[in-house]
Amino acid sequence: MSDADRVVARAAELREILNHHAYLYYVLDQPQIDDAEYDALYRELQELEADHPDLRTPDSPTQRVGSAPLQKFEQVRHLEAMLSLANARDEDELLAWDQRNRRLLEGRGFDDLPMRYVVEPKIDGLAISLIYRDGLFVVGATRGNGEVGEDVTANLRTIGSLPLRLRGARPPAVVEVRGEVYIPRTAFARLNEARAAAGLSAFVNPRNSAAGSIRQLDPKLAAERPLDLWCYAIGHSEGLDLPDHHTALEWLRARGFKVNPHIVVVDSIDAVAAACRTWEERRADLDYDIDGAVVKVDSYALQAALGSVAHDPRWAIAFKFAPTTVSTRLRSIEINVGRTGVLTPFAVLKPVFVGGVTVERATLHNEDDIRRKDIRPGDDVILQRAGDVIPQVVGPVLDGWVEEDGRREERFARHAALPEWRMPEACPACGSHVVRETGEVAVRCPNRSCPAQVVESIKHFVSKGAMDIDGIGERLVEDLYAEDLIRDVADLYALRREDLVELEGFALDQKTGAAKRADRVLGSLDESRSRPFARVLFALGIRHVGAVTAQALVQAFPSIEALQAASVEELAGVPGVGPVVAEAVKQHLADEHNRQTLEKLRAARLRLVEEHPLRDEGTLTGTSFVLTGKLPSLTRGEAQALIEARGGRVSGSVSKATDFVVVGEDPGSKVAKASRLGVASLDEDALRELLAAADARADAAAGQPSPSEDAEP
Ligand code: IVH
Repeated sequence: MSDADRVVARAAELREILNHHAYLYYVLDQPQIDDAEYDALYRELQELEADHPDLRTPDSPTQRVGSAPLQKFEQVRHLEAMLSLANARDEDELLAWDQRNRRLLEGRGFDDLPMRYVVEPKIDGLAISLIYRDGLFVVGATRGNGEVGEDVTANLRTIGSLPLRLRGARPPAVVEVRGEVYIPRTAFARLNEARAAAGLSAFVNPRNSAAGSIRQLDPKLAAERPLDLWCYAIGHSEGLDLPDHHTALEWLRARGFKVNPHIVVVDSIDAVAAACRTWEERRADLDYDIDGAVVKVDSYALQAALGSVAHDPRWAIAFKFAPTTVSTRLRSIEINVGRTGVLTPFAVLKPVFVGGVTVERATLHNEDDIRRKDIRPGDDVILQRAGDVIPQVVGPVLDGWVEEDGRREERFARHAALPEWRMPEACPACGSHVVRETGEVAVRCPNRSCPAQVVESIKHFVSKGAMDIDGIGERLVEDLYAEDLIRDVADLYALRREDLVELEGFALDQKTGAAKRADRVLGSLDESRSRPFARVLFALGIRHVGAVTAQALVQAFPSIEALQAASVEELAGVPGVGPVVAEAVKQHLADEHNRQTLEKLRAARLRLVEEHPLRDEGTLTGTSFVLTGKLPSLTRGEAQALIEARGGRVSGSVSKATDFVVVGEDPGSKVAKASRLGVASLDEDALRELLAAADARADAAAGQPSPSEDAEP
């Protein structure tokens, strides 16, 4: 052997050894040599290649580190279209999918073929296609529009678990491997820590970060990102004849690809559903994000017989988990002036469907929060449902892809040079100069007659949890204020029929002279006079005084006179009332304008004294409920109000802390979760019984001497 031959042979040997160890390390996660040994071999190859540049083959591990930056990505036409998937949002849709498939196949000669399914975690990353010719990785592309994608070969090469050459002998002439590029969660967290330490902004989530990384024009930057890859299908191939999908997955595994270990093969749709449920529960345990499970008919013959509709194959379906995040456009940041004068910025969003509801607004808390997250009007933002209830704006999408009308679109999202957002200096409602108290994040409008504050405080007064005045909603409060009919909550009780019928939507019936709506409002107002003192106190909207605190105050000071006479120290002695709350109560009650309002309320015959203070805050205090499905006679809001009026709590999601799930018609997945966790479920009748029992307990308690009476000589 000549020297030259020996060099060629050694380079080939080093490539093989190094690729094998990369496989052991990245794909199997079972390294057999340490980093120093690997590095020594790597350097040897690097030196050989430096002396003999023609030895630098595309499958050399030295080609992974990132080649020269590109001007732009070339377009690649996929050998076979990259389809998308139809969705099943729940088990019923999954069963319907299966039924339809079976109907389509009926009588077409497939009766003796077993219907097997493969269930795979649906990786929340970005789809890519990898082409291997004669075993060598030659081109890798993004999905693009499904027909044509972008050539991101150089970036894909940097992924350690991607085989540069297929393992084993006799590779097929051509094979197109499909998979999902993603960033593991732990690696993502480390990446963000490192970015923070370097003074760089944080990435919002692994998926966007992975998508942005794969579309870096500079492969050296891509190489620095902890990208990884799960492979899940074979597209076009030449010289490969496989009978079904699970064999294809085994083939991929044998050839050196990372195939998800959680993929299962099952032979009934019930087992498919069970696997989907398992994954939905365990998704948090994985080190990568999944947004569903993909269910595929195993047999290629059946797949071919089923075919596709539009861009979706009939033989596969995505069982979608409840999404936890979506992206949408932040149209603007507006200000809401609350009843206590706090200016709260909120996001006006392009409407987006998340967690079963369409969201178009979300709170942004305060200026500091907006600054910290670097959210700017015009950004595409990530929206998350925190604890399944309140949508939260997590942050802007600074690179990666966004979802437009349910379609994924790859692009870099801070399109323009958007200016930072600033809190206005003047109250948007009354123009007063706003103040920011030292040590507080909140900015306030100091003007107590600020129309926004007044309107908000009246809205609070009439709301369900407060005076619960049926027929007066937020819109009507605004109209009444605009028509100069109310200036404070007490003015509500001075409303006259002839004032109301002048309002839009309140017109008298021409024939009968009836004024149904006006009468309903007046009736509700009249009825509200019997609300207990604690409700009135809560309805006043004193800063920091919620329904529970109001109850506690009333127990200790059962009349408005007693409350007004109490010192800050005495108020602060009430259980659950600290010095801050006590100060707020004192200030509110001492204020001249508020005193006048209270006098007007007294004149309107509202109850400002509690005859039967309860021993308990509420007879369902500490009891937690979750509502699901449509109840026969109560709306969700009504059921919630009934529970909360007795001190119970209603939350949006079932957990171990839930005491009861109230189940109506067409309930969601919460029922299954409740039964798994052993949470008791109630129908509407059972709920009513429970409420009645609570009221009976309350009555019994009211019949006994109250603690303050006990103390009297
Ligand atoms: S199969 C025709 N399997 O989901 C079948 N896709 O909505 C096409 N995905 O674009 C894909 N994990 O990005 C398949 N195990 C998996 C998957 C998976 C994630 C993504 C993929 C695709 C999208 C379809």
